[in-house]
Amino acid sequence: QRGERIRLVEAHKIAAQFYIEQLENSPEAETGRAFLAERGFDQGAAQHFGVGYSPQGWDHLTRFLRGKGFSDKELILSGLSQDGRRGPIDRFRGRLMWPIREISGDVVGFGARKLYESDNGPKYLNTPETGIYKKSQVLYGIDLAKKEIAKASRAVVVEGYTDVMACHLAGVTTAIATCGTAFGGDHIKILRRLLMDNATAEVIFTFDGDAAGQKAALRAFEDDQKFAAETSIAITPGGMDPCELRLAQGDDAVQKLVETRTPLFEFAIRQVVLRHNLETPAGRAAALDEAAPIVAGIKNVAIQHESAVQLAGIVGILDTQFVVKRVAQLA
Ligand code: CTP
Ligand code: MN
Ligand code: MN
Ligand code: MN
Ligand code: MN
Repeated sequence: QRGERIRLVEAHKIAAQFYIEQLENSPEAETGRAFLAERGFDQGAAQHFGVGYSPQGWDHLTRFLRGKGFSDKELILSGLSQDGRRGPIDRFRGRLMWPIREISGDVVGFGARKLYESDNGPKYLNTPETGIYKKSQVLYGIDLAKKEIAKASRAVVVEGYTDVMACHLAGVTTAIATCGTAFGGDHIKILRRLLMDNATAEVIFTFDGDAAGQKAALRAFEDDQKFAAETSIAITPGGMDPCELRLAQGDDAVQKLVETRTPLFEFAIRQVVLRHNLETPAGRAAALDEAAPIVAGIKNVAIQHESAVQLAGIVGILDTQFVVKRVAQLA
């Protein structure tokens, strides 16, 4: 209900402020400050993104919020507290805290990175599904990036919180990330609204060198072919993520990464084709057999034709018309 939403958003607003205050002033948060510094984030960067620190004790935030008039029930519903043996305790303890804001700027959840070896939990802990936090519907950084995304008709999707920070600081202010989940249909809807079906709109995915993210991008756009036509993939060199790239090679390298992108379809075709030995006619035939159905699946006829011509080039078949016909037959 609306009343509950207002309460949970208010609790998050206070919590975000609490965590910031901890990061800035608490002696134990030195681990967090050092972590940020090692990543190339100074105090101004942390402030810009509202990064904070959750103290290691059991219930510092829980007690603070109780003092502000929140009931135990509200604290549990918010996801900020969880059930402990003797009542609610803090969900996030001894972690760096990234506030996750909706497009409106309301904080609805947190992404929390562990800082201590003694912590047996996962590297990142995210707010669970609550009345105000649905992981399939949030995009980290969207509040900061929305204007720029609309203006540039472009969105850059990265994997992690630190990657969003690194991109923005490097001047790529259209960067956003999903929060502990794959990019999916609801995320596409959010971007669509910002990009307003602009014909030149573009979505660029950058991924850590690993294959998991690339697969996710391909899957995300299987259902949304119009959007797929406007989607590109930028692969970081040496398996670095954008945050590591910025540390190693500076802001320019991050900007260049985004500019040197490959259209999603071309990327998908290359992935398939390069598994075959293109030196031999049999290898080229097998590559064509496998890739032609992908191209045939492209619903937009103009893009399908263009991709077929491209496929001929990638496989190394000189008779372009042969490939074009082959694709058309399958379509
Ligand atoms: N993630 C998650 N839970 C994990 C690991 C990752 O939710 N146990 C999500 C986080 O949103 C994270 C993103 O996936 O930001 C990317 O994961 P990864 O590349 O492993 O983390 P980095 O953001 O690169 O974090 P770091 O550089 O601090 O290791
Ligand atoms: Mn700033
Ligand atoms: Mn990764
Ligand atoms: Mn990283
Ligand atoms: Mn990473």
